[in-house]
Amino acid sequence: MALDNRLIIIIAIIVLSIVIIILKMQLNPNKKKKNKGKKKIPAFKGENPVIGNYKKVVQIGTGGMSTIYLAKATHGNKKDVVLKVLENVKPENKQAGEKFLEEGKIIKRINEKDSSAPVVKVIESNQDKPTGLYFIAMEYLDGVSLKNILDRKSELSLKEKLGIVNDVAWALKICHGLRICHCDIAPGNIIVHQNKKNATLIDFSIAINESNAKAYGLGNPYYMSPEQGKRGGVITVKSDIYSLGAVLFHLVEGIFPHKAGKCNTIMEMQKSGSIPPVTKPVPTELKEIIKKMLSLDPGERPNAQAVIDSLTGFIKKV
Ligand SMILES: Nc1ncnc2c1ncn2[C@@H]1O[C@H](COP(=O)(O)OP(=O)(O)OP(=O)(O)O)[C@@H](O)[C@H]1O
Ligand SMILES: [Mg+2]
Repeated sequence: MALDNRLIIIIAIIVLSIVIIILKMQLNPNKKKKNKGKKKIPAFKGENPVIGNYKKVVQIGTGGMSTIYLAKATHGNKKDVVLKVLENVKPENKQAGEKFLEEGKIIKRINEKDSSAPVVKVIESNQDKPTGLYFIAMEYLDGVSLKNILDRKSELSLKEKLGIVNDVAWALKICHGLRICHCDIAPGNIIVHQNKKNATLIDFSIAINESNAKAYGLGNPYYMSPEQGKRGGVITVKSDIYSLGAVLFHLVEGIFPHKAGKCNTIMEMQKSGSIPPVTKPVPTELKEIIKKMLSLDPGERPNAQAVIDSLTGFIKKV
């Protein structure tokens, strides 16, 4: 009898618990709706992924906000293209989407100004209707990034190094003529062609117009100008010249101009204005131009044309 009573109480508790759960679910129908409303961010993945007129081949990189894919045009010439796709942001976030597409618009302006300049060519920057994904389609450059070359410690001759920097200076000359500051001149954003002599500038994701320059802390600390790392620092086209000087220093000397474990320490070193001397056996005039490019005072730095003039002279001699 005592056992029967206990069994009845247990069954009653179970039934009551089930009733409570059902009631809770009925009283809180939003929970289900909430999850239903949470749209997933579409990703450019799957069996047959297509964005706009391009079909994905393989992922080749991951950026701060975007993913970089090698893709093929589905119509016309069926050329290889590179797609930069904004995958971390929901398509409804129009503000982030438009901001992302800015990169494509800036590059288009540069392409239209001088199509022969060594700046990557943009085909289109758009939002894909079916997926809502924002993307920038650009030409595929058959080469490797200068960062890749430096990481692999692949040998480049002095002539090749100067040729690469000269091409970036040429790209900057066109950008700076439009008052566009690239703001992220670094080896990862320079694609070296198969011939190792030429290079093309990519990644205008943090580029800005000089008149509305606010890019505090943005860029690669190893190559960033002192003013970019300074709160309230005034960024000008000369900030890119400093970064190109840092790339040239790295290529010639084999080390960064400033190296430290922490970003803040690197920035403090840059702000001190002291640059280690170039010790490698290269012409004194080349050491001088590197020193000038890395001047603390932007006014002391040469402009892109002056860099081209100096480097063209060295290239002929070496
Ligand atoms: N047009 C291109 N042709 C060949 N390779 C490319 C091209 N664009 C980008 N890449 C490759 O993808 C890498 C990353 O591209 P990119 O520098 O534009 O973006 P990111 O730095 O990764 O992203 P973020 O825009 O967030 O800074 C490059 O270092 C290069 O290896
Ligand atoms: Mg980059």
